[in-house]
Amino acid sequence: MTKSPETTQFSAIPRRSGDRLRPLIVFGTRPEAIKMSPLILECTRRSDEIDPLICSTGQHREMLDQVLGYFSIQPTIDLGLMQPGQTLSGLTARCLTAVDAVIQEQQPDCVVVQGDTTTVMVSAMAAFYHRLPVVHVEAGLRTGDLSAPWPEEFNRRVAGIVTHMHCAPTQRSCDALLAEGVPQQNIRVTGNTVIDALLIAVEKERANAARWQEKYPQAMAESVVLITGHRRENFGGGLAEICSALVELATSHPETQFIYPVHLNPNVQGPVHEQLGSIANIHLVPPADYPEFVWLMDRANVVLTDSGGVQEEAPSLGSAVLVTREKTERPEAVDAGLAELVGTNRELIVRRVSELLAQHAGGTGAKVIENPYGDGHAAKRIVDWMVGV
Ligand code: UD1
Ligand code: UDP
Repeated sequence: MTKSPETTQFSAIPRRSGDRLRPLIVFGTRPEAIKMSPLILECTRRSDEIDPLICSTGQHREMLDQVLGYFSIQPTIDLGLMQPGQTLSGLTARCLTAVDAVIQEQQPDCVVVQGDTTTVMVSAMAAFYHRLPVVHVEAGLRTGDLSAPWPEEFNRRVAGIVTHMHCAPTQRSCDALLAEGVPQQNIRVTGNTVIDALLIAVEKERANAARWQEKYPQAMAESVVLITGHRRENFGGGLAEICSALVELATSHPETQFIYPVHLNPNVQGPVHEQLGSIANIHLVPPADYPEFVWLMDRANVVLTDSGGVQEEAPSLGSAVLVTREKTERPEAVDAGLAELVGTNRELIVRRVSELLAQHAGGTGAKVIENPYGDGHAAKRIVDWMVGV
């Protein structure tokens, strides 16, 4: 990796004025909001040390607002960038101009981003143009293949090039950064804030079960499969294969309820409703609010997903996790035997879901299992590092 002078010489975040660190925390999509929320809550608790500016790009709208409401987070700045059916280039261009203007106006001490979306890549780039330090939360996840996940592997690597503080969730992600030439002093293994968020939500939503049972009576069946899917590399043929596997599974397992909160991307909504809309035991529902989604994961015997965040969360709740991707930048759960890659191969999906339903008949238990991605204290470690502890 080519190192920028700022990266190699970095030691602590310089403060422009006052005693408190003034980071610009930027996010734009549902998963970023879920994973940033514990960090923002930790900053709020430590308001004597840190004075964050909270900026939503609004890359997502409904799916983002669902999360902010749950964690009672009110962005100081909302750029409202989402357009229906937005293109990668269109969003990138609008986001760069808008985040640049925020930095110019607010003059923060640093920019904090989380993950691998367009918002992340562009905000890190805007910070670089302003010569500001970048804190990258969930740094170092790699498949080594720019086409999977696409375009996220590219986004995460671009953000990494200009990052000063790499918050690696696991030792494996730390090792990937070291192998690319990032100095050890610029990396800390913090755990993933997704587990902080999950631990906030899970006990609360178990206590709210009566409410969610009323909303999702299908989830009270003995046998439940929860599905999510939105990866761009699966659009078209891959998604069609997954749907055709679901049709076969729903027919061969009439007692099993298949609950599928469908992502709002029109490239997902259209094909999924067309192929699965009329099957009695397949329930296509709108994106679930985070707390109810946590409860649904807790209820599911099997989770079939191409989501990054769901791969990290579901193993905690004892569900069998099948990942509809050929490669994952989160191999820790696979290595621990808590998840399995099935790609988009119809026959393999049908076979593995059927086998797992047989193995997990009668439920998965109500324990929160130790999770390879975090221990629930990632946000504290990240804020400690940012303020110089
Ligand atoms: C984005 C991220 C992806 C992340 C996913 C999380 C990029 C390139 N992709 O993908 O990494 O895994 O979010 O869900 O950053 N839409 C709505 N309302 C919403 C959200 C989306 O209507 O609340 C529709 C809009 O038509 C929008 C489209 O979905 O144009 C696509 O949204 P976009 O953020 O560009 O991509 P995602 O597929 O959601
Ligand atoms: N999620 C949610 N409602 C849903 C599906 C997912 O709240 O209907 C949550 C899930 O718990 C996880 C996050 O959204 O924390 C994952 O987001 P997504 O799959 O959209 O993106 P990815 O993680 O793949 O980037």
